[in-house]
Amino acid sequence: MPIISLAIQKGGSGKTTTAINLAAALQLMGKKILLVDADPQANLTQSLGILQEPDKNLFTELKKQMEGQEEDLEKVIIKLPGGMHLIPSSIELAGAELELVSVYGREQLLSWMLKPMEDKYDFIFIDCPPAISMLTVNALVASRFVLMPLQAEFLPLKGLRSFLHHFNNIVKIKKRLGLDIDILGFVLTKYDEHKKMNREISKQLEDEFGSKLFQARIRTNIQLAQAQEAGVDIFSFDKNTNGATDYLQLAKEFLLKIA
Ligand SMILES: Nc1ncnc2c1ncn2[C@@H]1O[C@H](COP(=O)(O)OP(=O)(O)OP(=O)(O)O)[C@@H](O)[C@H]1O
Ligand SMILES: [Mg+2]
Repeated sequence: MPIISLAIQKGGSGKTTTAINLAAALQLMGKKILLVDADPQANLTQSLGILQEPDKNLFTELKKQMEGQEEDLEKVIIKLPGGMHLIPSSIELAGAELELVSVYGREQLLSWMLKPMEDKYDFIFIDCPPAISMLTVNALVASRFVLMPLQAEFLPLKGLRSFLHHFNNIVKIKKRLGLDIDILGFVLTKYDEHKKMNREISKQLEDEFGSKLFQARIRTNIQLAQAQEAGVDIFSFDKNTNGATDYLQLAKEFLLKIA
């Protein structure tokens, strides 16, 4: 039921990889999952082996919603071979950013569109672009939780702080609408225990944010990138990899946290 956004300002921090593989792990545990690709880069869509569908994607429906026409998100859902459902993105979504600015209820469109879906899934994950854009704001307004994947390095930590600053404004917007959003947690990605910097930043985050930092670490694992290239999640690609082990661990912790 809950909608969870994967968001943080920093690019390449593992948002898309985490959306796919956390979702896939939960699906293996019997959960019903909807993935929403809200990033014009469409990395999530492509990493699941889906070619862009020019007339059936999040943008086409958002456009209808903006123009006051009847939209039907359900019609653009793709049922993936493993059982997860996907609302694909398209490059045109980039144009929606500008158009959204002058639309009534511009921060809430995605939230309205996803309402009818909520009861149909155990979890809905929205993969956000690496910026606090109108699309990210829409995703966060629609979400009950935000999950922030990041690398345990200095610049990502700066990105996190900057994101948290903007996030407070989102919390205010949501309060006005009578809605809540909480940080579910931070997940360290591309983690290497042998790197001093990784250990130090991890410790720093633990000291500052306590249990908001997931204990599960997603180690650097080339197979995670290879799986994306092959258009499948890590469990379908090779379940005997560190990537599969780590995302399964993350999924278990996720269920405990969100319960
Ligand atoms: N644990 C990992 N080990 C190795 N490679 C990884 C790992 N996690 C992610 N990658 C690779 O790093 C790159 C960036 O990851 P990803 O696309 O998930 O980040 P992102 O935060 O979604 O990026 P963007 O901000 O551009 O949307 C991808 O090529 C992905 O395959
Ligand atoms: Mg991404």
